[in-house]
Amino acid sequence: MLPSTRHGVPATRLVAGLPATIPFVAPEALERQSGRPIALRLGANESVFGPSPRAKAAMNAAVERIAWYADPENYELRAALARHHGVGVEHVSVGCGIDDLLGLVVRAYLDAGETAVTSLGAYPTFNYHVAGYGGRLERVPYRDDRNDLEALAEAARRVGARLAFLANPDNPTGSWHTAADLAAFVDALPVDCLLLLDEAYVEFAPAEAVPPLDVADPRVVRLRTFSKAHGMAGARIGYALATPETIQTFDKIRLHFGVNLVAQAGALASLGDAAYLAGVIAAVAAGREDYTRLGAALGIPTLPAATNFVAFDAGEPARARALLAALVERDVFVRMPGAPPLDRLVRVTVGTPEQRALFATILEEVWPEVAGRAEG
Ligand SMILES: Cc1ncc(COP(=O)(O)O)c(C=O)c1O
Repeated sequence: MLPSTRHGVPATRLVAGLPATIPFVAPEALERQSGRPIALRLGANESVFGPSPRAKAAMNAAVERIAWYADPENYELRAALARHHGVGVEHVSVGCGIDDLLGLVVRAYLDAGETAVTSLGAYPTFNYHVAGYGGRLERVPYRDDRNDLEALAEAARRVGARLAFLANPDNPTGSWHTAADLAAFVDALPVDCLLLLDEAYVEFAPAEAVPPLDVADPRVVRLRTFSKAHGMAGARIGYALATPETIQTFDKIRLHFGVNLVAQAGALASLGDAAYLAGVIAAVAAGREDYTRLGAALGIPTLPAATNFVAFDAGEPARARALLAALVERDVFVRMPGAPPLDRLVRVTVGTPEQRALFATILEEVWPEVAGRAEG
């Protein structure tokens, strides 16, 4: 007789040993908990301005072809991206968003037991993949609410890191480093350490924060997405820029039909609509200024940001948690980092002017009580 599988087939030792985490609590989960719809969805740094009308039209048209598998080489989009960046198509790989590409890099370049460095409290999906592939993580605290590049490089050398993760501009602080700082950082990493430069928010950043594209440099993989400025988070599409050898390495293991046909069409059209993108970037900049003024008026400092969100500094973790709870109670979806010293911050995505006005009203209502209660 076959042994009973009533108690389930065991997962691999690696997977069985992982904590049962859900890395992101979604606004949909909050709605299920409260039984009420979210009034302000400002927690995931999605674009409140949505995709370009051209991208929408292209995606609607592509639905007619949804019976087909998409081109597994993502060729048309890769060729357009290559033209856009002035590089060869062999330098571009398309994936289901940066989150997917992060997993690919970890799988391709980090053996089980090897170490990767990141900042303590940085964008967590990288950590999730490192754990999932049996790697070890070395976390370096933020300094002055920015990634501490010197300490990251020092840690990478000390532990012999094979991968380093850096988001520039950064999530959750919104901070950024200059191209010169980044070049020095790459030089300070061990020679066999690959830098994953996550540029999810690059479109919102000042020019000084964008290093020149050197796709011949084998030490760096640049990761970009259509989820933020292009307003297509739900389509799940992003890309990596790297050497042809790195791109070929991804080809050995990537999910070849993973990127869907509608997303390919939307991304291609969005890339061609520079005017719309410029409008979004300007609208986001105006929204950031609004938040800075709002924070100043209420006595809540805000961090300088080069992103489509702003971090409000509640001063201390208890007050940040109380503010988050008060906002969630009012059906406002925002997030806060869990790791010190960033756990004084509440991160708010730039909304439309109407959403910002509603957010200001709610914040003005809840803040005096939150500030008073946490102090007392
Ligand atoms: C730094 C950073 N990287 C990557 C992502 C996710 O990008 P994608 O939607 O392309 O997976 C986010 C989304 O919030 C992010 O903040």
